[in-house]
Amino acid sequence: MLTSQFPDNHTITDTYIDLINEQRRLNFGDDFSGDFSRQLEMIYALLLDNDTVKAFGTLLSVDLTHHNTSYKILGIGNVVAIEKGHGYGKHLMIAIRNYLASQNIIGIGFCEPRLSKFYRACGYTVIKNISDRFHYSSANIQKDHEALDVLCYTPNNEFIRSLQTDKTPIHINQPIW
Ligand SMILES: CC(C)(COP(=O)(O)OP(=O)(O)OC[C@H]1O[C@@H](n2cnc3c(N)ncnc32)[C@H](O)[C@@H]1OP(=O)(O)O)[C@@H](O)C(=O)NCCC(=O)NCCS
Repeated sequence: MLTSQFPDNHTITDTYIDLINEQRRLNFGDDFSGDFSRQLEMIYALLLDNDTVKAFGTLLSVDLTHHNTSYKILGIGNVVAIEKGHGYGKHLMIAIRNYLASQNIIGIGFCEPRLSKFYRACGYTVIKNISDRFHYSSANIQKDHEALDVLCYTPNNEFIRSLQTDKTPIHINQPIW
């Protein structure tokens, strides 16, 4: 039976950390080969079949400021289904959605446009043409990245409407995750 767990950086086991690091290298290549550190304020989303990880993602604590309002959000990243095309990715993203709803917190991630269909199929709102409005340390993040779509889940739809309609910069205290 598939279950989900959300250990944090203090409680996740070394076995899971090693698997995540290995899968990140396999799926994202050398650019992403750094190891996760337990010092990062990170929650790990694990989709398990008994003790076997079928898919995982990470939820990084991020401070986001938009239009003079500050939000504590979770930055969704490193989404990987270890076996592709069996519905594990979707199961994981639905579990993350339910987790965000239970914590009443906004989740935001970045993805290549070709993957937007996947995130929409998992119930996320995909917003195009706003990733260049995300600023980290006053620099526009788009400079170092191709045009990315932004995936978002929030129990508060007003937040998404304000991102879409207001053209002002969105400040984040972490580089793109
Ligand atoms: C992207 C990824 C997580 C999807 O997981 P998956 O288990 O293969 O996907 P699922 O089987 O759960 O598919 C769910 C839905 O998304 C669609 N989908 C899956 N992968 C897709 C892709 N690459 N492009 C477009 N649609 C896709 C499926 O057709 C399915 O649609 P349906 O619900 O209408 O039938 C997986 O392919 C992966 O690990 N990729 C490598 C790492 C990566 O790129 N991660 C994303 C970082 S932003």
